[in-house]
Amino acid sequence: MLGRDLLGVLQSSFSDGEVIGWDIEEIDIQKGEEAATKIENLRPGIVVHIAAYTDVDGCELDEKKAFAVNAEGTRVVALAASRSQAKMVYLSTDYVFNGNKGEPYLENDSPDPLNVYGRSKWRGEHYVQELAKGALIIRTQWLYGRYGKNFVTSVLQEGREKGALSIVNDQTGSPTYTVDVAKAISTLIRSDAQGIFHVANSDSCTWFTFGQTILKLSGMDKVSVIPISSEKLGRPAVRPSYSVLNCEKLKKETGLTLRPWSEALKDYLTTCHLTIDQPDDRQRR
Ligand SMILES: NC(=O)c1ccc[n+]([C@@H]2O[C@H](COP(=O)([O-])OP(=O)(O)OC[C@H]3O[C@@H](n4cnc5c(N)ncnc54)[C@H](OP(=O)(O)O)[C@@H]3O)[C@@H](O)[C@H]2O)c1
Repeated sequence: MLGRDLLGVLQSSFSDGEVIGWDIEEIDIQKGEEAATKIENLRPGIVVHIAAYTDVDGCELDEKKAFAVNAEGTRVVALAASRSQAKMVYLSTDYVFNGNKGEPYLENDSPDPLNVYGRSKWRGEHYVQELAKGALIIRTQWLYGRYGKNFVTSVLQEGREKGALSIVNDQTGSPTYTVDVAKAISTLIRSDAQGIFHVANSDSCTWFTFGQTILKLSGMDKVSVIPISSEKLGRPAVRPSYSVLNCEKLKKETGLTLRPWSEALKDYLTTCHLTIDQPDDRQRR
């Protein structure tokens, strides 16, 4: 989902170089040395690593796969970047935090992941910090975008099919548009930023409010939304109740503040024709 938007953004902002995007068909990061050699053979200047096993509940049920892809796969990419003397950029997550802080998380707050996905991504952060000198680690959250199934498309689909939805109201974060993160990643690379940065759209809400806003902006506010607790939903992986990211460091070092999530959402819904006027457009994509 993020990869395809990022590829487009990087290709236009780094038109002075060659920007190549690989998915699992081109490189399987679980294939250790073979994958590392493939990267090194390209003689890259920058390696942006965003491949991951991102199914949070799937990770909980298959810890071995979660660590094989998100931790050991990241070690392979970090080694290859280091041996190529390339700059490494790694995408991480708000789920490294336990959610107990009660105010937006800073880059140097101590992680304490509640679920397997968060632990495997945090282990990935360790490998990047150990192996790839001068690396950039970007933690983001609650992503949606044009490419791939996400919360927005699920809400619209379920709203259309069932007419009523139950959404959790006890987890707070910042819904974030992949296009906005992609632009911020490009800016951070351009400014040769190093270390950890938090990147998310501004303002925050619960999934319930996010769901209600999606339906309202899409002209589907007749769909009823029922707030429920995470406990009642009973998903395999526990999520932090509050994982808003403080993005002041990004602002301080690059001058960039991402727009409020509701503005980005409006843009996404319009750009991707997801409003009630063109209900079939989404299905054609
Ligand atoms: N989505 C979010 O809300 C969120 C929040 C915070 C951070 N992030 C991080 O941001 C990054 C992008 O997330 P996203 O939502 O765009 O993810 P995504 O759509 O699930 O994309 C991840 C990609 O990695 C590929 N992949 C999986 N295993 C691989 C392997 N062994 N070798 C090579 N490629 C492999 C997947 O291929 P298949 O589809 O074929 O498996 C998929 O194309 C990830 O690092 C994620 O951890 C995401």
